[in-house]
Amino acid sequence: MTTTSFGTLPCKDLLSIAQLGAGDIETIFDTASALKADRNAYTQVLANKRLGMIFEKDSLRTRFTFDVGMQDLGGSAVFMDHRDAKLGSRESIKDMARNLERWVHCIVARTYKHRALEELAANCNIPVINGLSDHLHPCQGLSDIFTLHERWGSVKGKKLVYVGDGNNTCHSLVHACALLGAHITVCTPEGFEPNSRVISESMLMARESGSDIQITNDPEKSVANADAVYTDVWASMGQEDEIEERAAIFENYRIDEELMALARPEAFFMHCLPAHRGQEVTSPVIDGPNSIVYDIAENRLHVQKAVLVLLMG
Ligand code: CP
Ligand code: NVA
Repeated sequence: MTTTSFGTLPCKDLLSIAQLGAGDIETIFDTASALKADRNAYTQVLANKRLGMIFEKDSLRTRFTFDVGMQDLGGSAVFMDHRDAKLGSRESIKDMARNLERWVHCIVARTYKHRALEELAANCNIPVINGLSDHLHPCQGLSDIFTLHERWGSVKGKKLVYVGDGNNTCHSLVHACALLGAHITVCTPEGFEPNSRVISESMLMARESGSDIQITNDPEKSVANADAVYTDVWASMGQEDEIEERAAIFENYRIDEELMALARPEAFFMHCLPAHRGQEVTSPVIDGPNSIVYDIAENRLHVQKAVLVLLMG
């Protein structure tokens, strides 16, 4: 057993990548690399620590990786499936937070409203981690960039292109690129552009990092010379009523072999998963040799273990 002491993060919670500095991301990546290098070496780092998981929405990756991650580190997790009762409906979020902090050492929450996460975090003295809200998906963004970082050493100056809906996954990817100096082009149908506040705060970070941020509506032009092309579902959880309408609007924003051919030949294909083959991406692309979707999913485990250790250890 290795008893290395890891660093800490300057924030109590991880609700958004925008709370972090570039150095904090480096700390997360260094810790994730160490934990990944020997999964069985850090079995006591979170001994006797308990994680509470409150999910208003479905999950495979986030739920498994946080639970397994706690087990890897000697702790345990309790999962509360809250799909049938939105946060704040049975009792106030404030009361929930004040109960949970008496029992567990950290909370991961997956919510509709981002505000619910903020309220949870503001009302307890334990770390709250965003396991996805309608607005942001920071654990995903960190794992996406960590996966590229492993391949390229640094993402600075690389060109990422996100094609699809300007959603939670997109927002956290833009934050991460802006902090670390990767160039990011977001290409959406008109009216589905990313949140303007996310873009303006990212522009501020980009001034320091040298990242170039572009928002466009033209998939062919945007993927030219891309080092990585990213997409996500066209209708996110909570938008089930819009699936058909969105399928028509997003038809020209599918990542297929022809679109990928406009990127660099070695360009990676990225997706947070779950994916819908034939909708936002074709099978030959997501199942092809340049797809790194399962490596990203694997890294959710290592990156989130790093976040748990740095917030709780
Ligand atoms: N990418 C992701 O967060 O997957 P889940 O919704 O399965 O957790
Ligand atoms: N944008 C998707 C991401 C799922 C991991 C959603 O919110 O449903």
